[in-house]
Amino acid sequence: MLDNSEEELSINEKKVLLALKKLNGKASVKEIYKLGDFKDENEVVNAASWLRFKGLVGINERIKTIYHLGKEGKRILKDGFPERRALEYIMKNRNKRIKLESLEKVLKNYEIPIAIGWLKKRDWATIKKEKDGTFLEITDSGKKYSNKETEDEKTLRLLEKNPYIEMDKNKIKSLKSRKDFIEEKENMLIEVHLTDKGNNLLKRGLKIEEEISQITSRMIKSGSWKGKKIRAYDVDVFAPAIYGGKPHPLVHLRELVREIFISMGFEEVRGNYVESAFWNMDILFIPQDHPARDMQDTLYCKKPSNIGVDKNILDTIKNVHENGGKTGSKGWNYRFSKREARRVLLRTHTTVNTIRYLYKNPKPPAKVFSIEKVFRRENLDSTHLPEFYQIEGIVHEDGANFRQLIGILKEFYKKMGFHKIRFRPAYFPYTEPSMEIEVMWNGKWMELGGSGIFRPEVTLPVGVKNPVLAWGLGLERLAMLKFGLKDIRKLYITDLDWLRNTPLI
Ligand code: PHE
Repeated sequence: MLDNSEEELSINEKKVLLALKKLNGKASVKEIYKLGDFKDENEVVNAASWLRFKGLVGINERIKTIYHLGKEGKRILKDGFPERRALEYIMKNRNKRIKLESLEKVLKNYEIPIAIGWLKKRDWATIKKEKDGTFLEITDSGKKYSNKETEDEKTLRLLEKNPYIEMDKNKIKSLKSRKDFIEEKENMLIEVHLTDKGNNLLKRGLKIEEEISQITSRMIKSGSWKGKKIRAYDVDVFAPAIYGGKPHPLVHLRELVREIFISMGFEEVRGNYVESAFWNMDILFIPQDHPARDMQDTLYCKKPSNIGVDKNILDTIKNVHENGGKTGSKGWNYRFSKREARRVLLRTHTTVNTIRYLYKNPKPPAKVFSIEKVFRRENLDSTHLPEFYQIEGIVHEDGANFRQLIGILKEFYKKMGFHKIRFRPAYFPYTEPSMEIEVMWNGKWMELGGSGIFRPEVTLPVGVKNPVLAWGLGLERLAMLKFGLKDIRKLYITDLDWLRNTPLI
């Protein structure tokens, strides 16, 4: 931050300081406004808050009660107080004594009791009942006041000249007790006072000169800025951060992956959350009694609990599992259950999307991918989610081979910003060979997904004759690495600070 030198003050700030100096160091916003030439009181308030921020002034706010004349008050100011008019009437009488009823001549009916009340209260007259009627008779004090104003009369005139002023509560009390004489309003009073720092700055002297706080293109063109003073900016000064809307980092990453595959010549396919065990597993040559089914803890549906599967393909796959069918394989050699095949589940991997695609499009060439959610019965922890995205893809073409698969995956990860990846032998019932992909991150190898070439037991029954390269990669794992997350759950918790501060890569 700059020091609090004169450089740093705007013209309005300087004007406020100078006005305060004239007003003995302390004044209300209104008083400052009247003194300096400001556009409005707001300008004063703004400048004062900046000055407070810079430690040059202090600001106190308090509620003040202000008064002005009410309807009756205004009339009384013209006509006179009832007790005053009564007093004057008595004074006109030779004996300084009048009949009560004769007040009718100078007062309105409703004013008569009021006048009598105040005459008594102020001790201006006494009431005497006599044989021939009730009389009001002047007292010494009444005589004295016949040419002397009461405090109430003075106050009323003061308020006429200076409406909306603050007044001593005691002074206004008796006027307030009279109906509609006085009205009351509450107002916020903002008072500004110089701090020691402010005083010191003023002692050193302040000059008000025209200065430029914003240079416009017009000023540059006309050269009018030349020779003028340009206001220094404090670039370290606090300013509230403005957060624009932006996609969730994970959504953004998903788009990035999508763009990369599209740029590599792939076409996107989509699938369904709910599938049969047949499409999710059987057609991928995953044996029904194989621990591989447990490997991916499956979430089965209760309603519906089973779903129809096309009879032809179901019979074909039954044979492949039991004896290899026409694939040249010996199969798994067990009794395949069609019931098991019809069970309904939430897809455990998006490989179901690609096998459906191959079944419908058995002719090469094809390069397709999908980025969709899969579901597994996993316990939620810092590295596992029960639902997550998979980045799935296949290349189906004549002569497709293992080296090509490695090349594609390397290319993809390179585009994602990971340059060091490696492949480890792995096992999936539907690919041969199979590999796991690992990427180097912060000195450690992290597993990101599986891949391989579909076995003939998978491709031949769906009419595919050429090799198919396939992979399934985790999106959230990738996100963890990209965003440096220790806990995968962060991606699904609405942590506003994290969302705001995570740059979109
Ligand atoms: N489906 C596998 C999984 O969910 C990944 C995979 C896809 C492996 C395609 C080989 C080929 O982990």
